Amino acid sequence: MTAHVATLPQEATADGTVTGGGFGHVPVLADEVVQLARAAFAATPLGWIVDCTVGGGGHADALLHALPQARLLALDRDPEAVQAARTRLAPHGERARIVHGTFSGVAAVAAQHTVRPIRLVVADLGVSSHQFDTARRGFSLRLDGPLDMRMDATCGESLADLLANVRVEELADVLYDYGDIRRSIGTARIVLESVRGGATTTGALAALLERRLGRVGRIHAATQVFQALRMWVNDEAAELDAWLRDAPGLADVDGTTLACITFHSGDDRAVKQAFAKLERVGLGERRGRWERATRKALVASAAEQASNPRSRSAKLRALRWSPGSAPDGDGGAA
Ligand SMILES: C[S@@+](CC[C@H](N)C(=O)[O-])C[C@H]1O[C@@H](n2cnc3c(N)ncnc32)[C@H](O)[C@@H]1O
Repeated sequence: MTAHVATLPQEATADGTVTGGGFGHVPVLADEVVQLARAAFAATPLGWIVDCTVGGGGHADALLHALPQARLLALDRDPEAVQAARTRLAPHGERARIVHGTFSGVAAVAAQHTVRPIRLVVADLGVSSHQFDTARRGFSLRLDGPLDMRMDATCGESLADLLANVRVEELADVLYDYGDIRRSIGTARIVLESVRGGATTTGALAALLERRLGRVGRIHAATQVFQALRMWVNDEAAELDAWLRDAPGLADVDGTTLACITFHSGDDRAVKQAFAKLERVGLGERRGRWERATRKALVASAAEQASNPRSRSAKLRALRWSPGSAPDGDGGAA
């Protein structure tokens, strides 16, 4: 598995807060997401957008501006993101509803808020710049913070808690599966040696990893280790699987669009495979078919990549629901 490695922005103050730009996250592929939304709302301006990862509200704000009659249901598992998005989207008044929750539960949240018709469901995976650049959250290699890495620090186990009990083989699997780390047993031993030897901060762990593993080209060897640990702490693969299973069921009108932005090759592969299956088999009992809204994955333009290095690893895939006709492949509704 090849991990896309994002270059992290570095303008942070001593307490780890990003300077300038408020929440500090620049939305990726925002024009492309807005274009998909315009197509999904082409027949009528009314309907709902479900933003499964609202973050600082960058995509949400752009969508609400572009589609002045659309309404938005947005969620995020990070209470700080929910707060930031509520502040940013406040000028849109009742058009924007922001809820704290994981996107594995998006179907239940949408049912609870009776949002119909839904014209766009979008997920922009991974971490926000705010999370990376806030030292106390414990995501950063460059800013010293606690070994935490939880997107929602109100629940679940922190990285320190997980590392206290994990077996070396189990940790090696995490590093191999989510970080593409070949010498995973050796690297897992270094991580455990560090924390069991008393390291309690990201800085101490990163320093030991760099000393022992060096750099791969310009990339800090610890970057991939940190990425793998973050995906493990937040159970990101299971979250994505659940979203890929349940979010398609939200389709209810002609043109409902399902869009997903990934930053990691394993996530992109999961999305690609799940979308290919949806194209083949549709939604089981329900009459209709999913068609590609983009011929292949969209990537950021050269200009966007130059201005926002996070966008370099982004891939956007999207499908469009068309009720009434059956899929070509096996298992389609009669
Ligand atoms: C890349 S940021 C989204 C940025 C946002 N689209 C914007 O324009 O500001 C990813 C966000 O997804 C959230 N997130 C990640 N996994 C999640 C999950 N399983 N459920 C809900 N939110 C999640 C993170 O907390 C983070 O705020």
